[in-house]
Amino acid sequence: MAAPAFKNGLVRWIDHRLPVFSFLHHELHDYPSPKNLSYWWNFGSLAGIVLVIMIVTGVFLAMHYTPHTAYAFDSVERIMRDVNYGWLIRYIHMNGASFFFIIVYIHIFRGMYYGSYKAPRELLWILGVVILLLMMATAFMGYVLPWGQMSFWGATVITNLFSAIPLVGDAIVTWLWGGFSVDNPTLNRFYSLHYLLPFLIVAVVMLHMVALHRFGSGNPLGIDVKGPQDSIPFHPYYTAKDAFGAGVFFIAFAGVVFFSPNLFGEPDNYIPANPLVTPPHIVPEWYFLPYYAILRAIPDKLLGVIAMFGSIFVLFLLPWLDTARVRSAKFRPTYRKFFWVLVVDCIVLGYVGANPPEGWFILVGRIATAYYFFHFLILLPVLGLIERPLPLPQSISAPVLKPAEGKA
Ligand code: HEM
Repeated sequence: MAAPAFKNGLVRWIDHRLPVFSFLHHELHDYPSPKNLSYWWNFGSLAGIVLVIMIVTGVFLAMHYTPHTAYAFDSVERIMRDVNYGWLIRYIHMNGASFFFIIVYIHIFRGMYYGSYKAPRELLWILGVVILLLMMATAFMGYVLPWGQMSFWGATVITNLFSAIPLVGDAIVTWLWGGFSVDNPTLNRFYSLHYLLPFLIVAVVMLHMVALHRFGSGNPLGIDVKGPQDSIPFHPYYTAKDAFGAGVFFIAFAGVVFFSPNLFGEPDNYIPANPLVTPPHIVPEWYFLPYYAILRAIPDKLLGVIAMFGSIFVLFLLPWLDTARVRSAKFRPTYRKFFWVLVVDCIVLGYVGANPPEGWFILVGRIATAYYFFHFLILLPVLGLIERPLPLPQSISAPVLKPAEGKA
């Protein structure tokens, strides 16, 4: 990479010895980005911003939190009441988790709509699914730390799922707990891992970026950049666009943190954990509800667990399950409709997951679960072969420079 001539002498001095500025210049300025990226391409950088916020607030919470069953709940109450701005740090961290999932779910569905997972970006997508799994593990363990009723019972229900594994299931659960129930050793290891995993996420996000920069961003048309007329430097164009998106995000985030900080929360978690009192209705955090619905849709415990994990593992195969040669749903009129059916299906699953498994919810949960797997395992492979896509524009600039040709 040719080192640019930096004006600042100190920057030049450092860059000669440690070429970090050349690297940034290369990745941010030289890096050609498609000129037609929409606001749906803001969510990757937003996820990165929230990841940093989560780590910074988490480190400050850890300074005052006590990972012991006898003190954990009280230490969180102390953070809320006595630690300077402790309430703010905790509310940012707590709601940050929800916003992180909102952003990443939008990021994933954007990928599905525009076929971002298609060649040559399969590994970029797979790294994304690894990040999603790590995020889920981190969020699950984080929720246990305040040691409220839902922390304890949520941990009990979910760790118990492993007991469905034949022969070794019970031994695995005892090993996970570090004892014969969710107790102090469980809380300690969850705390340790909850602190560790975000840094693993950072490492995988870096690989995600390396894979992204290998071929550059996709774009709403789903066609490749054909030359300089199709691209613009990332900086200042997309740094400005990302900054605007971040501003909108911060307004929404501040709205929840300051005016409705318990919006996504569960009141039962303000009751200290009590192993002798089971709450009438154990529900996970909202971002786990669709998987919870899939788990409960199947009467057999082991098959339910397999279906639940399968609903995420199927995403690893997505680049090969979708047989269409055209990336963007813009040019796939039939796929476009089914994409929205899938979005509704996931929302229905979330709704079912939030309700007790009785009456209509059982039937709706089963239909929605069956549809979820139908979409990925049957519809996508078949539709890709039979659907006739609309004609693609010659290049990204073509529809702008010659509108008639682009519309053809
Ligand atoms: C901590 C979580 C994540 C961070 C920080 C992150 C970051 C980013 C960034 C900065 C971009 C480029 C901007 C953009 O296209 O929006 C990107 C692109 C992408 N990400 Fe992620 N990502 C995360 C999670 C995921 C997940 C969970 C998936 C999928 C399961 C995923 C799949 C993709 C794909 C396919 C692209 C390329 C899109 C394109 O170029 O058209 N990412 N990511």
